[in-house]
Order: sequence, then C-alpha cells, then structure tokens
Amino acid sequence: MSNHRKIRRAATKKEDTPNRNGAALALTKVEKCYPRLNKPAVENFSIDIDTGEVVCLVGPPGCGKTTTLKMINRLIEPTSGEIFIDNESTLSIDPPQLRRRIGYMAKEVGLFPHMTVTQNVGAIPRILGWEEGVVHARVDELLRLAGLDPRQINGLYPSQLSGDQQQRIGMARALAADPPVLLLDEPFGATEPHARKRLQGDFLHIQRTLGKTIVFVTQDFQEALRVADRVAILSERAKIIQYDRPSEILAHPANPYVASFFSTHVGITRLGLLTVADTRLLPAGQQLADAVVTTSTTLQDALDMLVQLRRPRLTVVDKDGITVGELDFYTVAQATADKDGL
Ligand SMILES: Nc1ncnc2c1ncn2[C@@H]1O[C@H](COP(=O)(O)OP(=O)(O)OP(=O)(O)O)[C@@H](O)[C@H]1O
Ligand SMILES: [Mg+2]
Repeated sequence: MSNHRKIRRAATKKEDTPNRNGAALALTKVEKCYPRLNKPAVENFSIDIDTGEVVCLVGPPGCGKTTTLKMINRLIEPTSGEIFIDNESTLSIDPPQLRRRIGYMAKEVGLFPHMTVTQNVGAIPRILGWEEGVVHARVDELLRLAGLDPRQINGLYPSQLSGDQQQRIGMARALAADPPVLLLDEPFGATEPHARKRLQGDFLHIQRTLGKTIVFVTQDFQEALRVADRVAILSERAKIIQYDRPSEILAHPANPYVASFFSTHVGITRLGLLTVADTRLLPAGQQLADAVVTTSTTLQDALDMLVQLRRPRLTVVDKDGITVGELDFYTVAQATADKDGL
C-alpha cells in the first residue's frame, strides 16, 4: 500500500475496524456485451478494492451496476478483461469454488419460500457438509449479529416475515459460509426510509465486527456516503466518473454530473459525515439521562435529538461513557463552518 493510500485510509470513518478478514479485488478492463444489445452493458471497467473495504457503486438505472457485480462471482461471465481475488484470476477458479469465497445477496433477497429461517441461513454451510451442530450455532450467531432473536424467528417461513426481517436474513445467509467477500445488490432498496437507516447502522456494525470486503450497489447516494469507505460514481456503461472516499467527492466533485447527486442536500450530507468528535465542545454541565450522545454520533443524529427532545444542549460522553462536554446548535453550526472544504 502506498503512503498516499495509507493516509487516505487512516482518515476514513472505519479506521478502527478490528478485523481484516476480507480479500482484495481488482477488475481490469472488464467488458460485458449482451447478445442483441448494440452497446456494451459494461465497458472498460477497472477498479481496485482493498481488503476489508466497503465500496459502493452508485449510478442511474440500467447503467450496468448489477452486471458488474455479477461478473465478480461469475454469475455473469465477462466478455473480456480480468478479475482478481487476492491476485488470483477468477477465470482460473471453478465457479462453485469461487462462490464459496464470495457471498451474494440479490436486490430481491430471494429467500427460499419453502424453507424456514434456519434452513435458509444454513443452506450453504449444509451444502458444504458442515456438521449439523456447527450449522445451528452459526445460524444463531448470524441472526443475532443481524439484530434478530433466533428463538423467535428460527422456525418461521419467509411469508411470515416483514421486509426488514427478510433483508436481515438475506444478509445473514450471504455471510453464512464466512466468505471474505460480499456482493450486495441494493440490499436495502425495498425498505422504507426509517427502517433503512436502522439497517444501514446495523450493516456498519456487522462490517466493523467481521471486516469483510464488500461491494455494495445502490441508487441512493446518501446511503453510499453513509456505508462506504470509497464510492464509485458510474454513468452509462458503468463508466467510472469518480472513485474516492465520500468526503473527497463532496469537497471536490469531478464534474457537474457528480455534483448533481448531492447539490441540493450538501448541508445535510455534511452533517451525516461529521461526528460529535469534530466539534469544539462546550464545558460539561449537569448530565441529563435522556439527552446523551457519544463522540462518534453523527452531527445529523445529534441535531435530530436536539430537535426531538427539545433540549438546548446534549451531554457528550466518550466511548467509555465518561462525560467530555456538551453540544448545542451553535456547536454544530461552528463545526460545519470549520470543516469548510471537507
Ligand atoms: N441478460 C441480459 N440480456 C440482455 N441485456 C441485459 C441483460 N441484463 C442486463 N441487460 C442490459 O444491460 C444494461 C445494464 O443492466 P444492469 O442490470 O447491469 O443495470 P443496473 O445498473 O443494475 O440497473 P438497475 O439500477 O435498474 O438495477 C441494461 O441496458 C440492461 O437492459
Ligand atoms: Mg441492478
């Protein structure tokens, strides 16, 4: 990794990711031409993805996001170009073997309707011949990680689950065989905004716990900013217009096309990227139990709390729960002004 790269990663939101269990990916001049389509669906696509990194592909409908994703695990074969997983060409790996190293969740989740939750999540480990006891323990562990109670949900069928639960189970299933790489195609696309935010938060928790390499397709730029270490903004035929970390894209959009993804929400967007740790806190006063944020809370969430709790100030604690100061509207406003050029 170059010095430049080290500095860039050190500045990302997830610098303290404890595990690095993923694999590096590289796509080199990848192209896909479908029969009867007069233009390639994906043209000359090259990207490097570091081990343990979350990369979002963002772009308009039909620009080739799903095709690109499915070429990584050879659900779709590239017409030309090469794809490497930890420097090994995917073309030299038998597709079923390759897919054991790459978990996949499609846009429509696709749980098996005739199988219970346990059977769905444990499907791949069972195919791999894991012992039944090990499969059960793994299923319970993943369901808990995905924010579900195994005792309540294990025996249910997909038709008995909410959309939110189905998406969590789809994610658990993709992780079941502990693959180093995860491909997620609009994983929260069908979720209403409030549940979506919770899912994104839980997704980040899972990622921090497991340290997988994740390629995450979304049409929602705000979602990409929230979950990604780096975002690739695509236009037609999966052409990469800009590939960088979220704060760089916001500060230096490559062109008006990129800026158009966020120009109307730039203030809100910045608040979602800055945390309480980026502010100059006021001295601590009396702690109010229901008005506490941590230094890692985003300024957007802190502002939401100020409004919803109708409090002039919030108490700020560090990760050990020790009070470090207070925050009010002016602290937030000052931080966004200080970080001009973020
Ligand atoms: N199996 C196929 N045969 C022929 N053309 C296809 C096939 N799959 C996709 N395409 C075409 O390739 C282009 C890219 O499709 P793709 O599904 O990769 O886009 P996408 O960015 O994922 O779109 P969306 O945001 O709607 O999911 C589109 O023009 C689509 O119509
Ligand atoms: Mg798609």
